[in-house]
Amino acid sequence: MLVSAKEMLEKAKAGHYAVGQFNINNLEWTKAILQTAQECNSPVILGVSEGAGKYMCGYKTVVGMVNGMLEELKITVPVALHLDHGSFEGCMKCIEAGFSSVMFDGSHYPIEENVEKTKELVGITGEKGMSLEAEVGAIGGEEDGVVGSGECADPKECKAIADLGVTMLAAGIGNIHGKYPENWAGLSFETLDAIQQLTGEMPLVLHGGTGIPEDMIKKAISLGVAKINVNTECQLSFADATRKYIEAGKDLEGKGFDPRKLLAPGAEAIKATVKEKMELFGSVGKA
Ligand code: 13P
Repeated sequence: MLVSAKEMLEKAKAGHYAVGQFNINNLEWTKAILQTAQECNSPVILGVSEGAGKYMCGYKTVVGMVNGMLEELKITVPVALHLDHGSFEGCMKCIEAGFSSVMFDGSHYPIEENVEKTKELVGITGEKGMSLEAEVGAIGGEEDGVVGSGECADPKECKAIADLGVTMLAAGIGNIHGKYPENWAGLSFETLDAIQQLTGEMPLVLHGGTGIPEDMIKKAISLGVAKINVNTECQLSFADATRKYIEAGKDLEGKGFDPRKLLAPGAEAIKATVKEKMELFGSVGKA
């Protein structure tokens, strides 16, 4: 059964580790992540962008697929199904479809409007026992058409949003979706520290987990980050493994063109990436 991310993130914050959110795009992706979480005895959050939701034939299809897999694969570790960077309307659709968690990304609105819309969703998700992630300060780069400039969040605005009763808070600290540029200044730990001082127990979320050096990930966790999002790295490992399979001519050998065979190396590569991240984030054995 899908669970809210509240309990797993509160435990992670108290235990000084982070739970990974891995974005899903199709059946192979979802199965690989769930199997790895079970093998690692780790809680996990499946992230679905609005674009990926559309691609997978809508949120109801996603809920049906994930619920089916939890049962068929006998998954016993805590799993949350979470809308990533949702609009207000997207959040409402996911709540209705049976997601267990949503992110409302109101970072592009003036803070008053972000507060107002987040507050409304605190009430709705609270009644349903779902978790809600809010965002303050845009996260840089581009993800599925959502573009942010990568500013650092204002700690006072973070406190205003945290006080509304959200479950977890994503705050821009110089992080960027996708690959980091050569001249990237790194994460602003000063901002993160100031945010944690004002928001206390609130689990903080680090987006743009791909390509952040290990020491920065560990430091971010020590300063209150309890959820780390990874998307691009799984996409890159999937693409790389698939390309190698084709370049080696394996799709032309025997029944190598069978999609179940063609997509298998990519799925294995995702498993390896997810395991590596769970080890780095410290969530292995914490289910
Ligand atoms: P990356 O694609 O940089 O790993 O970021 C993922 C993310 O933050 C999803 O919200």
